[in-house]
Amino acid sequence: MPPGWSLREMVARIGEKNRCDRSRLTAPSRRPFLSFAVHAKMLAGKNDRQGKERRTPMAEQVVLHRGLKGVYLDATRICHIDGEKGILLYRGYSIHDLAQNATFEEVCYLLLYGDLPNRQQLAEFDAALRASRTLPSAVLDIIRSVKDAHPLDVLRTAVSALSAFDPDVKDMTPEANLRKGTRLIAQFPTIVAAHERMRNGLEPVPPREDLNHAANFLWMLKGEEPDADSAKAMDLDFILHAEHSSNASAFAVRVAASTLADLHAAIVAGIAALKGPLHGGAAEAVIEMAEEIGEPERAEAWVKEQLAQGKRIMGFGHRVYKTEDPRARHLRELAKRLGEKFGDPKTFQIMTAIERAMQPLRAKGIYVNVDFYAGCIYHYLGIPADLYIPIFAIGRIPGWVAHALEQYADNLLIRPLLHYVGPMERPFVPIDRRG
Ligand code: ACO
Repeated sequence: MPPGWSLREMVARIGEKNRCDRSRLTAPSRRPFLSFAVHAKMLAGKNDRQGKERRTPMAEQVVLHRGLKGVYLDATRICHIDGEKGILLYRGYSIHDLAQNATFEEVCYLLLYGDLPNRQQLAEFDAALRASRTLPSAVLDIIRSVKDAHPLDVLRTAVSALSAFDPDVKDMTPEANLRKGTRLIAQFPTIVAAHERMRNGLEPVPPREDLNHAANFLWMLKGEEPDADSAKAMDLDFILHAEHSSNASAFAVRVAASTLADLHAAIVAGIAALKGPLHGGAAEAVIEMAEEIGEPERAEAWVKEQLAQGKRIMGFGHRVYKTEDPRARHLRELAKRLGEKFGDPKTFQIMTAIERAMQPLRAKGIYVNVDFYAGCIYHYLGIPADLYIPIFAIGRIPGWVAHALEQYADNLLIRPLLHYVGPMERPFVPIDRRG
């Protein structure tokens, strides 16, 4: 990021840049279904006629799907999203039922194994998770040596390093991949918490086997046992982030898995894709925005001004949802409860004021997304803003593992095409004759 740019500023500028770029693009890029023949005619220039540069034959018909918008990559049994109706199902179960009734551990089992666990299955799975939380000391050393990096970069580095210590790393059987996936789910919170302690000059807090996944994470992060409401809030947040079909990071996982790269490699690809502000980075930008607005009464004017300048408002809009993101309802209610509990309703009030100011954009299908209230919740839990993305990753890892397993189970190398629109057959000019 250029020095001096906030995350929010960067995203807003990406919005501006995209708009400028789109206006300069040739017609086929703006209108992806235009045939290549028309495109080629538009591109044909003087050089072409002089024979210096030639382009692909005009007869070729190419349909572009930029950003793979609207393209079905494969069939899946993991997740269903109806973006028009605002429906989200994990393995057939409504996100609303899971949010109200399940624990994160049950949701992990559901995503990995395909069904909700019975009591014994859950007890065994949970015991495996609890027993896998500790990191090799060499990985803790690596985290210490890169402690000044962004926490998501540290997570990515540590997961890469963990592959060197995992006894199953080369074993690609489904059983071994399930064992590795379970270990990674257990290890993610330990990495994030250990790094947070180290960069603050503190020793990592060892995991506690008597706490559940969410409570243990907050314990390792802060060194004190969380109250029941905070632990439940973290658990719910993890459930709501656990899976979301072929989003950019899960797609990256599947692309890497489709080369038959091992599970650690595939998960590293997912972490890398999560980093950008158009995906996992938005929650951090949302809380920066709320801080800049400062007072609920200022929200409407602030939003209007940003929109007038052609900037994007973080935490709004979604590639798939053209109505409210079904996860947002639970996070909104949770943020309200936490604001009351911690005696700080103002941040929540700023958020709802931003949401009200954004209502006119609903006509364009732009509604609040999962990241909008997530940032507010982490703020109430006293979590620093640059940990928001790694926390998203802690929630999302079971979904990534499920996608890698599904890809391995019926693999086909993912290798789409790019339509070349540059010059063709350019004569090579020796370096001393180039202008
Ligand atoms: N604020 C204002 N306008 C917006 C926003 C927004 N947040 N999102 C989209 N728009 C507008 C665009 O400017 C564009 O308008 P135009 O047609 O007049 O140029 C139109 O809506 C379509 O935008 P696209 O970027 O083409 O839509 P896409 O489906 O590709 O974008 C995305 C989805 C990237 C999430 C977008 O809505 C966005 O940038 N949102 C802000 C970042 C964010 O919150 N990301 C988190 C997403 S959820 C997640 O990953 C967990």
